[in-house]
Amino acid sequence: MLSVRGLTKRFGGLVAVDGVGFDVAQGSVVSIVGPNGAGKTTLFNLITGVIPPDSGTVRLDGRDITGLPPHRIARLGVGRTFQNIRLFAHLNALENVMIGLVASGRSGVLDALAATPRDRRERRDLVERAEALLDWVGVGANRLRMPSELPYGDQRRVEIARALGLEPRLLILDEPTAGMVAREATAVVDLIARLRERGVTLMLIEHNMNVVMSASDRVVVLNFGRRIAEGTPAEIRADPQVIEAYLGTDA
Ligand SMILES: Nc1ncnc2c1ncn2[C@@H]1O[C@H](COP(=O)(O)OP(=O)(O)O)[C@@H](O)[C@H]1O
Ligand SMILES: [Mg+2]
Repeated sequence: MLSVRGLTKRFGGLVAVDGVGFDVAQGSVVSIVGPNGAGKTTLFNLITGVIPPDSGTVRLDGRDITGLPPHRIARLGVGRTFQNIRLFAHLNALENVMIGLVASGRSGVLDALAATPRDRRERRDLVERAEALLDWVGVGANRLRMPSELPYGDQRRVEIARALGLEPRLLILDEPTAGMVAREATAVVDLIARLRERGVTLMLIEHNMNVVMSASDRVVVLNFGRRIAEGTPAEIRADPQVIEAYLGTDA
């Protein structure tokens, strides 16, 4: 589904992503791991069009999407969440998810805000779809709360619900369990499994090795911007280079 070749990004003298390539098969879960500063978030920003690469290509279903703006890539079916949760602080959980549905272009902003009977129907439909997404991620009961009133795990799940509003075929999650207590992280792992059952292909950046090993089909390891290994979780766990660079001897 996704094919990345020779992707390179420099920031001044620093090569943040250095000739990285890998494939993501439809229906699979691919994790990107590596130490802080390895280039993982930059790689996701290149794939989703947030920043343009200096060289290399990104193909989605064979189509070259390299350097397209983020909204175009999103409409082609690539959704994402951010390392630092980005919810609108002055909107409640439901409204945050509704924004995602409106942004998907399936509902016109003006239609959603206008007051004719047809438009009211459209707005009600929007609310119902947002409620269904929040129920699906398990935050339905808290849908009228502001982000700041929600536990961290719920905020992350609202962000995932918003991304799902775009009906992504590929969902890219940057550190979905960062900052979570163990119970919250477990709930996110369950959610990843359910996303996969739903037919969503997933890429994740994840530091929790238990999550990586249990949730991934394949793992790509970055170090100083370079891909140092790629394989199944078992292959990665046994790779001497990976152990030295990242996992440590007790992994
Ligand atoms: N916009 C930027 N400008 C300059 N340097 C950046 C920028 N974004 C990231 N970097 C640098 O690129 C390297 C990789 O960063 P990042 O992709 O965030 O790593 P990771 O997500 O693996 O922790 C780091 O050294 C970081 O400081
Ligand atoms: Mg990062």
